[in-house]
Amino acid sequence: MTPRGIKISDIAYVRLRAPDLDTMEQFLLDFGMVRSERTANRLYMRGTGPAHHIHITEKGESAFVSLAYYAASEEDLHRVAGFPDAVSGVHDVDEPGGGKRVLLKEPNNGFNIEIVHGIRALPELPVEYRSPTWDEDVMRTVGNPGRLRFGPAHVRRLSHGVISSPHMEQTLAWFSQWLGLLCTDIFYIGSRDNPVGGFYRLDRGEELVDHHVLNCYRNPRSGFQHASFVVEDVEDLLIGHSHLMRTDKYTHIRGVGYHPPGGQIYDYWLNPWGTMHELYLPTQRFDSTAPANIMPAPGAHNPTSDFANTITEAAAHGIGD
Ligand SMILES: [Fe+2]
Repeated sequence: MTPRGIKISDIAYVRLRAPDLDTMEQFLLDFGMVRSERTANRLYMRGTGPAHHIHITEKGESAFVSLAYYAASEEDLHRVAGFPDAVSGVHDVDEPGGGKRVLLKEPNNGFNIEIVHGIRALPELPVEYRSPTWDEDVMRTVGNPGRLRFGPAHVRRLSHGVISSPHMEQTLAWFSQWLGLLCTDIFYIGSRDNPVGGFYRLDRGEELVDHHVLNCYRNPRSGFQHASFVVEDVEDLLIGHSHLMRTDKYTHIRGVGYHPPGGQIYDYWLNPWGTMHELYLPTQRFDSTAPANIMPAPGAHNPTSDFANTITEAAAHGIGD
């Protein structure tokens, strides 16, 4: 009997590899994350939300290692272990935060996918300042330099990961069949029978979710394009943008801007090894009944653009190998 897929409950973390964990940590601090744990060979970063970590870096040659998603229950994790593309059984995660895991090898591109459950949650972190509104606090604090807001954004959580593939339809079909993702939008170029990108969201029934937890777009190269991190509000995103500009250390690739399909405010930056990270603020949320749309691709999603060709190759070897 063919095993049934599950409905993942959320994206958990992205796992990258980089040769210098100090430099990676400084970039992620400037980007708006907080250190959760650091070992000799791995860096775990969190946001202000309860997730123990949302970004892992393993020490090694720069690469994309995996995307991780939460199973809703341990029972689901056992079901994943029976998938044809499972490459491990259910096992304890020997990393900070613990939990249990099954590893999958996505068959169209060979991407490593981690399905996790039971990673320890942490107390949420206070957001240490809220930007004052112009007409209230700022006017009250004229003459007080403390009114000036500088510093990184406050990343709260991970929203989505984006991958490129020459096998876009099959890749999206795999995520849909096995992990229960729903189609929100398909972009095409020229005519509707030429789709170039698909945006898929979580299925959490009546609960509202982001426009997409996964975007896969057509490209001759398979790889990882970016991960996207949700900040507090518009002002927080702009303060974070200003901070990253002021460091004069990182490459800004696109933004601040607005994607109409999901009402998303974005700002894209490259880490010191050229892997894209997005500061993000969704202004629209979707339940499982929202119908899929097909629409012409906005220009920047043209697969020949630099933005679409900023791709980080998948690691030749797997997690922690
Ligand atoms: Fe994004």
